[in-house]
Amino acid sequence: MSALDAVRARQSWSKVDERSPSREELLTFVAAAGRVADHSSLRPWRLIELRGDDREALGAAIAKAQGDASPSTKPLRAPLLIAVVASYQKSEKVPRWEQEAVASGVAHALSLLLDEAGWGVIWRTGHYTRAKAVAKAHGLGKNEELLGWLYVGGKPEGKKPGRRKAVDARKLVTRMPKAGAKSSSDKKAKKK
Ligand SMILES: Cc1cc2nc3c(=O)[nH]c(=O)nc-3n(C[C@H](O)[C@H](O)[C@H](O)COP(=O)(O)O)c2cc1C
Repeated sequence: MSALDAVRARQSWSKVDERSPSREELLTFVAAAGRVADHSSLRPWRLIELRGDDREALGAAIAKAQGDASPSTKPLRAPLLIAVVASYQKSEKVPRWEQEAVASGVAHALSLLLDEAGWGVIWRTGHYTRAKAVAKAHGLGKNEELLGWLYVGGKPEGKKPGRRKAVDARKLVTRMPKAGAKSSSDKKAKKK
C-alpha cells in the first residue's frame, strides 16, 4: 500500500477486541515511527507499553486523580495501551513546543503503521492526563509529560469505525495575506 493510500484509509477504532500486536511487532513499528523529523535529533519522547495489570494500575491512578472511590475501567477498553511521553531535553535551540511536536509526530506515525498492519487504534486523553497520580503511575521524570495513550487491539470482524467528513484541502491551504489586509481571524472576530 502506498503512503497516500494508507493515510487515506486510516481511521480510529474506538472498539477493539482482545487481540494485540506482540512486543516484537510493536518495536518494529516504533523504530520506523521514530524516524519523524526531529530538530537536533533530541529524541524528546518515549513510549510506555501497558498490558494486563498495568491497565488496572492506570485505572487506579485515574480514580485517584479524579477523587473517585473505584478504579476507572477506561484503560480496560483495549488489550494494549501505549502511553506517549514527551521527554523534554535541554536545548538552547529547540523549545518545548518543538519537542512536543516530535513526540506527537511519533504517535501519529505509529498509529498509521499499526492501522496499516491491521490493528485498531485510537488516541485518547482525558482531563486526568497530566495529573500527578497518573504521572507517578507511569514513573515519569520531572522533564516529562504525557500526551495521552494509543489504545490498540484487534479490529472486530464485521464492524466498521465511524466515518469522518472529507478534508477540504482547498480551504485549508491558503497563501500569505497581502500587506495591510485583515487576517481571517480578525474577520471572524468582527462577525461575532
Ligand atoms: C491528542 C489527541 C487526544 C485525543 N483524545 C481523545 C479522547 O480522549 N477521546 C476520543 O474519543 N477521541 C480522542 N481523540 C480523537 C480520536 O483519536 C480520533 O482522531 C477521532 O475519534 C476521529 O477519528 P478518526 O481518527 O478516524 O478521524 C484524540 C486525538 C488526539 C490527537
